[in-house]
Amino acid sequence: MESLNDVRIHDQIDHWKSVMFLYDSALKEIKTKIEILNSEFVHIYGHTPIEHIKSRLKSPESIVKKLKRIGQDVTIQNMVEKLNDIAGIRIICSFTQDIYQIADMISQHEDVTVLQIKDYIRNPKPNGYKSYHMVVSIPIYLSEGPADTKVEIQIRTVAMDFWASLEHKIYYKFEGNAPATLQAELKACADMVDMLDDKMFSLNQMILSLGHGE
Ligand code: GTP
Ligand code: MG
Repeated sequence: MESLNDVRIHDQIDHWKSVMFLYDSALKEIKTKIEILNSEFVHIYGHTPIEHIKSRLKSPESIVKKLKRIGQDVTIQNMVEKLNDIAGIRIICSFTQDIYQIADMISQHEDVTVLQIKDYIRNPKPNGYKSYHMVVSIPIYLSEGPADTKVEIQIRTVAMDFWASLEHKIYYKFEGNAPATLQAELKACADMVDMLDDKMFSLNQMILSLGHGE
């Protein structure tokens, strides 16, 4: 016979599964919207802005780790209320200018509510990190009604992404205490990323004005 404790554990597992199902569905919804926007963008601006899209669900281990780090009890309710990045999408585009157009187009969607914006492009982090972050919520229509679900969207250029993945690797290798020289080198690389993004943009403008665009 099942004890009361067993029943509670089963309830918890069911609850966990249905919550993760919502996040997974929200990822799919947002990803489809972005893919459609990318195709539409060609007609409006003459090029496809998005190089690629990555999406991921936060692992149970990372969810627990983060809740503990921010001093919250490990409960499903806290995870839904306090964490914004259980469902995450990263959009990698060609040019900085595309980032704002993509962000605008996503925000204008009828069923997308923007909950938070962090613009690390206009305000880069001291280490040199650049990226545009949005937390949005979208309704997922279930048989019992809509459930608003949060998705973290990060938008950055190929060059910014290259920088961020190297920085991430170094950060983990040194557990957040990389030698000052390495940090200074990374910062210098971030400045080169800026320069490269600017150069590539003006080069592209030149190509377009010569009438040899995509
Ligand atoms: P997290 O607790 O790390 O999620 O940060 P937060 O809740 O303050 O949100 P923020 O928008 O600042 O950062 C969210 C995500 O952006 C991180 O999980 C990383 O994926 C990315 N990110 C933020 N800062 C950095 C950085 O300095 N370097 C790299 N490589 N990625 C970063
Ligand atoms: Mg995060």
